[in-house]
Amino acid sequence: MDVIETFDRVTSWDGPFENSDMQRALVALESGKVLYFPSVSFPLNPVERAFLTPSCADGKSKNISYDPAEDAVHGAAAAGLERKRLTAMLRRYGDAAQEFLLGLMPGYRAGLERARTSFRPVEIKGRPSSGRKDDTRLHVDAFPSRPNQGRRIMRVFTNVNPHGQPRVWNLGEPFDDYAQRFLPTISPALPGSARVMQWLHITRSLRTPYDHIMLHLHDRGKLDLRYQESAPKTRFEFPSGTTWIVFTDQMLHAALEGQFVFEQTFRLDVGSLARPEQAPVHRLEYLTGRMLV
Ligand code: SIN
Ligand code: FE
Repeated sequence: MDVIETFDRVTSWDGPFENSDMQRALVALESGKVLYFPSVSFPLNPVERAFLTPSCADGKSKNISYDPAEDAVHGAAAAGLERKRLTAMLRRYGDAAQEFLLGLMPGYRAGLERARTSFRPVEIKGRPSSGRKDDTRLHVDAFPSRPNQGRRIMRVFTNVNPHGQPRVWNLGEPFDDYAQRFLPTISPALPGSARVMQWLHITRSLRTPYDHIMLHLHDRGKLDLRYQESAPKTRFEFPSGTTWIVFTDQMLHAALEGQFVFEQTFRLDVGSLARPEQAPVHRLEYLTGRMLV
């Protein structure tokens, strides 16, 4: 399957990794593929296993998230000692994911920012959601309130489902095809709107033309039901006890089914990529003929 690059020989988070695997990982990841590690799992200890229930989320959020800057979790129902243990579990996953990524792709170190960790204890299938928030529809990721300003969104996922249930994804067409399909429908942002949104704290920093386009690409695809129906897609099941890494700002993806996954988000400066010309910001600059950041 040409959207998945499999690494059978990698069995641990802390390496050491073979040079040939590191090379292959870098090329595949930056060309938009999913790096799939069928033998990298995240075994939970008995205390952590108690969190394998949807009731550990507060009911309002779809995920529990851990912010490394605050060393605190959000969206969790737990209090007191329970909350400390939940925080420690997410921190432990984030530490493992970061070590893994830096071991495999040491060239990313200078441009890498560890963002939020999430634990997703709610079954995706049948979960009520508005069209824009519905991750069962193909999309590229973009953050409305935290502009990336050209930087990449890279995510590490591990399925920890205790009943052997896979996480089922659809993977879509190449980024350029998707962008070309929807770019003609996206008007530029209103002049001055980026500053107003920052001033009103709708965004934490300036939403650049790049962010504007990425947000609209995210929404256009999700809200176009005919596209969702007819778009090229490949279904893939990530079994329990496996890990995968992908640039979710580049790879069209949809999560259809599954429960209990960890996810670590990283932001990466485009300058740290081995092939920056493949980054969405540079593809969109090429396709629009404009500077976007
Ligand atoms: C997504 O990034 O759209 C969701 C992925 C997942 O939770 O499996
Ligand atoms: Fe997504």
